Amino acid sequence: MFTLGDQPLANAFLTPEQIDEPEPRYPLVVRECADCGIIQLKHVINAASMFSDYAFVTGISQGMTAHFAELMRENIDWHVPPGGLVVEIGSNDGTALASIASHDVRRLGIDPAVNLSDIARSRGVPAVAQFFTETLAEQVVAIHGQASLIVACNVLGHIDDLDDVLRGVRHLLSPKGAFVIEVPCANWLISRTEYDTIYHEHLSYFAVKPLSALVARHGLKITRVESQEVHGGSIRVTVQHGIGHTHAVVPWFQGDSIPRDWVAFRQRCEDTREHLVGWLTRARDDGRTVFGYGASAKATVRLNYCGVSTDLMPSIVDSTPGKQGRFVPGTRQSIHDPSVIDTLRPSDVLILAWNHNLEIRPKLAQYVASGGRVASLTTTGRLNHA
Ligand code: TYD
Repeated sequence: MFTLGDQPLANAFLTPEQIDEPEPRYPLVVRECADCGIIQLKHVINAASMFSDYAFVTGISQGMTAHFAELMRENIDWHVPPGGLVVEIGSNDGTALASIASHDVRRLGIDPAVNLSDIARSRGVPAVAQFFTETLAEQVVAIHGQASLIVACNVLGHIDDLDDVLRGVRHLLSPKGAFVIEVPCANWLISRTEYDTIYHEHLSYFAVKPLSALVARHGLKITRVESQEVHGGSIRVTVQHGIGHTHAVVPWFQGDSIPRDWVAFRQRCEDTREHLVGWLTRARDDGRTVFGYGASAKATVRLNYCGVSTDLMPSIVDSTPGKQGRFVPGTRQSIHDPSVIDTLRPSDVLILAWNHNLEIRPKLAQYVASGGRVASLTTTGRLNHA
């Protein structure tokens, strides 16, 4: 078991009116199943309160847009006949489905966030603003028929009733179709000390073995596994109808059988906390001002776990319009458009959305050229000032 203490909801960015109101906090505790190795949250928060209006918009990141476009193109080539149906569960603002507009396929996005499904539709992507369930899958089949490709990226971890979703997938997936799942891999979460990927929206943290056990309960099997660098290390798993598992998964099972050292993980989390707070404190005492870059959910978790107050970091910049003008849950940093870096000229910028380092660093080139300093979090959770 591992606890991050009582934390606010990581994506519940506060409006100026909410900033003086008391803020709910909920225990953030994970535990590992001794049988299959799945890691799950101990306390589940009502999903509707977290997902009906969602702040993160996939299309903000060019890197993620390109990543999903590649996933879609590749899997359409492999699995979808002309005119076939492609369904995305957790379609967000329709970015992935929009990337295949010129393909001879039918598209359907499913996402409970009303604001994001509206954006998807405005881009010409048919989208249903509902949670994906077995009942919804039956309705989709009745109207559109079965799907040759179902994609669910960074979404399974958000779902409480996984069996209901898998029953829906089994019903919706055509006999030779593919269900492609992408999730951050729990093994890297532990080995790279990515504790900030633990938050109330993420109910489950997967590796290949627990995923295999889950899909097997529904007459499905894993036929392909690939590792991906996104989100701190992810696995892309292809699931199809059938029983047993293919050779592709055997090496992954071996890796997943190594016991996880939670004591060492906790120690590394505490070390990185001391390291970050020490650096921010020295910067403040030297009269420097540090802004964060990327008001991600990970940023909320890290700032709250480390107790980073506004005198250590007053503000964060983020290009998501829905986050600007709001405040970080718990620690209350104000969130601004990235252009304030050039107008307010903080002495240092710390990239908190570390999974987007490669995309964010070039955006700070001018700031660095004019004397600004940029630090980022490394895969060990420590700071890189290069
Ligand atoms: P995300 O990767 O979704 O992380 P999490 O799942 O922890 O919320 O969020 C990244 C955030 O960084 C998002 O709010 C958008 C922001 N961002 C920028 O402001 N500029 C950029 O160039 C990129 C790539 C992201």
